[in-house]
Amino acid sequence: MSNVITLREVAGGDACLHEALRAADLPTDDIEDDGRAFFEAVSGDGQMIGYAGLEPCAGDYLLRSVVVLQAHRCHGFGRSIVEATLRDVEGDVFLATTSAAPFFSTMGFAEVRRAELPAAVLATRQLSSICPASATIMKLTRPPT
Ligand SMILES: CC(C)(COP(=O)(O)OP(=O)(O)OC[C@H]1O[C@@H](n2cnc3c(N)ncnc32)[C@H](O)[C@@H]1OP(=O)(O)O)[C@@H](O)C(=O)NCCC(=O)NCCS
Repeated sequence: MSNVITLREVAGGDACLHEALRAADLPTDDIEDDGRAFFEAVSGDGQMIGYAGLEPCAGDYLLRSVVVLQAHRCHGFGRSIVEATLRDVEGDVFLATTSAAPFFSTMGFAEVRRAELPAAVLATRQLSSICPASATIMKLTRPPT
């Protein structure tokens, strides 16, 4: 199966985005706040594959809301979505995850301690209140390949 995808920006209020995040137990509390960008990923044959989001943090970014719909997992789409989302991003990229650290490790993310985070990343709603203290915080340490 080809894992080529196209990203299209969607609003934080998009009902299908909410449903996909809820189904994957990912937070939805702050996705309609200002400043975040969300993208839907569509396959070459027009199927909805998943979503990703970016939250700017004073020159750095929080990668968030990465989800591949259940039926499309384990075909390389997650990797394609992350690569496409970060293609034009400059600055450091961070994320928080409770379950997918091994997935992100395959793309050059490595765990960092909260004490090492830039203040603007630490101040995001995701890191300051929504994600549990036990979440793994990661930083992109090389281009996602
Ligand atoms: C995490 C998620 C996005 C992965 O999507 P996917 O399309 O199944 O992943 P891919 O097929 O692109 O896998 C890419 C690589 O990661 C590995 N991988 C994927 N999921 C993994 C996991 N849970 N643990 C370890 N490795 C994993 C794959 O083996 C693959 O490695 P390879 O390139 O060396 O073969 C998907 O499982 C998901 O939507 N999970 C629920 C939401 C979530 O936890 N999102 C992250 C929080 S922001």
